[in-house]
Amino acid sequence: MIAGMRCAVCGTTVDIAVPFAWRCPKATADDPYHVLHILEGGDQPEPIDDPNPFVRYGPRLAWWAFARANGLTVAACEALTHEVAGDFAVTPFERSSVLSDELQLDVWVKDETGNVAGSHKARHLVGILLHLRAAESLGLLTERPPLAIASCGNAALAAATLAARADWPLDVYVPTWMDDGFGDLLDELGARIHRCVRRDDDPSGDPAMLRFREARSAGAIPFTVQGPENGLCLDTGRTIGWEITDQAADAGIRLDRVTVQVGGGALAACVGAGLGGGVRLDTVQAEGCAPLADAWERVIALDRPERYWAKVMRPWPDPHSAADGILDDETYDWIADIQAMVESGGEPFVAPESDIVRAHELAIAAGYPVSHTGSAGLAGVLAARPGIRDGDRIAVVMSGVAR
Ligand SMILES: Cc1ncc(COP(=O)(O)O)c(C=O)c1O
Ligand SMILES: [Zn+2]
Repeated sequence: MIAGMRCAVCGTTVDIAVPFAWRCPKATADDPYHVLHILEGGDQPEPIDDPNPFVRYGPRLAWWAFARANGLTVAACEALTHEVAGDFAVTPFERSSVLSDELQLDVWVKDETGNVAGSHKARHLVGILLHLRAAESLGLLTERPPLAIASCGNAALAAATLAARADWPLDVYVPTWMDDGFGDLLDELGARIHRCVRRDDDPSGDPAMLRFREARSAGAIPFTVQGPENGLCLDTGRTIGWEITDQAADAGIRLDRVTVQVGGGALAACVGAGLGGGVRLDTVQAEGCAPLADAWERVIALDRPERYWAKVMRPWPDPHSAADGILDDETYDWIADIQAMVESGGEPFVAPESDIVRAHELAIAAGYPVSHTGSAGLAGVLAARPGIRDGDRIAVVMSGVAR
């Protein structure tokens, strides 16, 4: 059951009945180092027998608890889920004999390539949209402020896909170097694209993020996959971890490890929360951008490292890798990622670029139409392989079709 949200940095709590609690109330422009995490209590409700993950695990979700706390019925929550996210289904989880034979391990793949918009990203955003739609039906939202995201990858595509379906305006803040073909895709989905040039008076940092934050300050809704910008993205994203847990149990197997590629860190946070600490969670970043592994070294020496955010999580100076979807210079959700690794006995791995390339070749040979980003979890397994026992059972997430 969900009681509310709690800031992992300052401890401020927000009751679950409060609408639009995207960020810690104490976060300011000068002190953005806060992040709301879901505050759970008691046992997880049993899954409902339904192929749609957001119905299946509905009663475990924060948006659902918000709606129920404000008087929506279970039937109304289910109906809203079908309306907003009707075409999501539990994604495949299967053993790959090609990868298992190649690595001399028992490799299982959570295959997100067929998910809405071709990756797992939409999972994170569904909860924000459901929260908004519930607020509308409760009369708590009478006009639709625009949704906003800074991304030029799978998250932007997922946001544009969901916003188009909901007929909700979306502003996408992108870097000037965004691929034109990708811009066309967003355009076809009706998103308003803003190419963000660095202005003379801009402070340091990504200009697309700066413009996104300005839009948010002007009232736009952070429709983003970065916990500090909207803690609710860490809600429905957990379905991926719950699915893996239940699918492993159904297959009669026990996983030894799960290795997850990390960009902003929301995916690993959600897989970790969904697995509940019972399976070792390792993370992986590319050698050309590894701020989480870098922070890990500093965190080890500290008591309650979240108090020292700006000192612990330092922006990576020159991100580069063929896995271009995980080049976030900061791991925004580092607190949840580190908690998940510590609780489960995992650690962060750094994959040499040669492993990023080889993992991609292996993933394609195994039949997964992923990008280098989408197969980077496997690169983590390659990097960690010398320390793994032969035959160990490992799961990776293949996500993000190559475009
Ligand atoms: C296919 C794919 N896998 C993994 C990630 C990493 O997710 P996160 O940024 O939540 O760490 C991304 C992020 O863009 C992605 O596109
Ligand atoms: Zn706070």
